[in-house]
Amino acid sequence: MSGEQRRAHDPDGAVGTARHSPADEVDSDAVNAPTLDLHGVNHRYLTDAGAFVHALADVDLTIEPGSFVAVVGPSGCGKTTLLRLLAGFLTPSEGSVSVDGEAVDGPGPDRGVVFQQPNLFPWWTVRQNVEAGPRYRKVPAAERRRVSDHYLEMVGLADFADARPYELSGGMKQRCQIARVLANDSCVVLMDEPFGALDSLTRRRLQGDLLELHHRRQDTVLFITHSVEEAVYLGDRVLVMSPRPGRIVHDERLPEYSGVGEERIHVVRTDHEFAETVRRITEIIEGEELG
Ligand SMILES: Nc1ncnc2c1ncn2[C@@H]1O[C@H](COP(=O)(O)OP(=O)(O)O)[C@@H](O)[C@H]1O
Ligand SMILES: [Mg+2]
Repeated sequence: MSGEQRRAHDPDGAVGTARHSPADEVDSDAVNAPTLDLHGVNHRYLTDAGAFVHALADVDLTIEPGSFVAVVGPSGCGKTTLLRLLAGFLTPSEGSVSVDGEAVDGPGPDRGVVFQQPNLFPWWTVRQNVEAGPRYRKVPAAERRRVSDHYLEMVGLADFADARPYELSGGMKQRCQIARVLANDSCVVLMDEPFGALDSLTRRRLQGDLLELHHRRQDTVLFITHSVEEAVYLGDRVLVMSPRPGRIVHDERLPEYSGVGEERIHVVRTDHEFAETVRRITEIIEGEELG
């Protein structure tokens, strides 16, 4: 690709034009996120012993484009099953799963998955890991490079492009996973307890980064977590699931906390409604666990 073409594709690479205003920067990274739908979904696993495990029950759910949906519920209630259905790793035993009205029939680059344990290729560099999706799709090398530069910068790993996963901290590995998903043009990001194994400071920092990315990209995020605080802090909507078979027993839209990063942390920490929402949702989960 020539320099001229590259500039035409690269909103940040424009030369000789007026500087971007912050609003322009938001526009330039915004993706065209789809609507996700689950209708009448039940899922049963067949175990090796030949028994059925009813993991999800009667899930009807619409996730609007650009929303950040946090899912909480007791261990084993079917959260990962819900995510795997949306990712296309599983087909529901009953009901339908669709993206913009099209039935999901397998995984696709539009829906990226971030796992709790980073699944990076250990023998590849950070950059090679981030370029995995574009390389698979046979994107030319120069364009891949531009994309990986862009997202490595976005997640703060530009200086570690040539490092290998064993040289990274846990938080950096998660950043690398996130960059890999974004580099694959995913407009839906499905995250399964992605910060669960991190220390609290790293976790806090990545939460802020994730919100900032979401704010810039306006992508659709499904975020599974054990932590009610994390769900209420990150989500603009929180779903609570019952013990297995998992049903959605509570679905709440949260007030928009203004700002991202430090500013938002300040607003949330000083907002008594935040603490009250955490308390209330925790009570709902505890009530469900007691049956
Ligand atoms: N491949 C599988 N085969 C059989 N049972 C499974 C399988 N995967 C998950 N399960 C069972 O389904 C239920 C829901 O699992 P999961 O979705 O992983 O829950 P969560 O993520 O909320 O902890 C659990 O009881 C689990 O043991
Ligand atoms: Mg799980």
